[in-house]
Amino acid sequence: MLYDGKAKTIFEGPTSDTVIQYFKDDATANNAEKHAIIDGKGVLNNSISDFLMRKIQEIGIPTHYIKKINMREQLVKKVEIIPIEVLVRNYFAGSLSKKFCIKEGTPLADTLIEYCLKSDELGDPHISSEHILNIGLCSFDELELIDEYSLRINDILRGIFYSIGINLIDFKLEFGICKKTKEVILADEISPDTCRLWDLKTNKKLDKDRFRRDLGDVEGAYQEVLERLDIKS
Ligand code: TMP
Repeated sequence: MLYDGKAKTIFEGPTSDTVIQYFKDDATANNAEKHAIIDGKGVLNNSISDFLMRKIQEIGIPTHYIKKINMREQLVKKVEIIPIEVLVRNYFAGSLSKKFCIKEGTPLADTLIEYCLKSDELGDPHISSEHILNIGLCSFDELELIDEYSLRINDILRGIFYSIGINLIDFKLEFGICKKTKEVILADEISPDTCRLWDLKTNKKLDKDRFRRDLGDVEGAYQEVLERLDIKS
């Protein structure tokens, strides 16, 4: 084992430039103050993330994706994670709605990118691009690529979800520097844990807000996303 995270564990891979991501059933919120086990969540997220990473890879954005190994594990390229969370938003929701007291679901004039520092100790504070560059979390060129990739990923994900009757409200991405090639690549996962997904007609939440806000049937919502994507796991 190399790293035990909140929702995933990282194990050594078969070669020095690969690792294995194991998807757990653990769900946490509020910087791990709230914790629960959601039966089957890891299996669903593994399949959904595998599907979406492949779609992103197909449009030429480099990702850590190699292959799904089994129900809970993926083989991925080893990266050094850039310690920022990239939040991509199409609508007001969550912390952005709270900050400006603007109703969730209100469209943004344009896609908004925000950044948080990955630090459990500090509670993942929001930071600016100037903070990122001044602190040296990544280079100017790397940040430019991160923004460009994030907007293209938003375009493809919005389309995929729209076609199955789901509105992509916002999502979080993480990038890393590939150990082998030294290029910036998409890492981590894309799943209902890391996206806000609302049914287009009813606005029913099909994502982790069901856990954060005690709305119930978290697993059922994740299963619905998997089924609508027509993923055979
Ligand atoms: P926020 O509204 O809480 O800032 O979250 C924006 C989006 O990013 C939402 O889809 C949840 C996702 N997200 C994560 O997956 N992990 C995180 O640590 C944070 C802060 C947000």
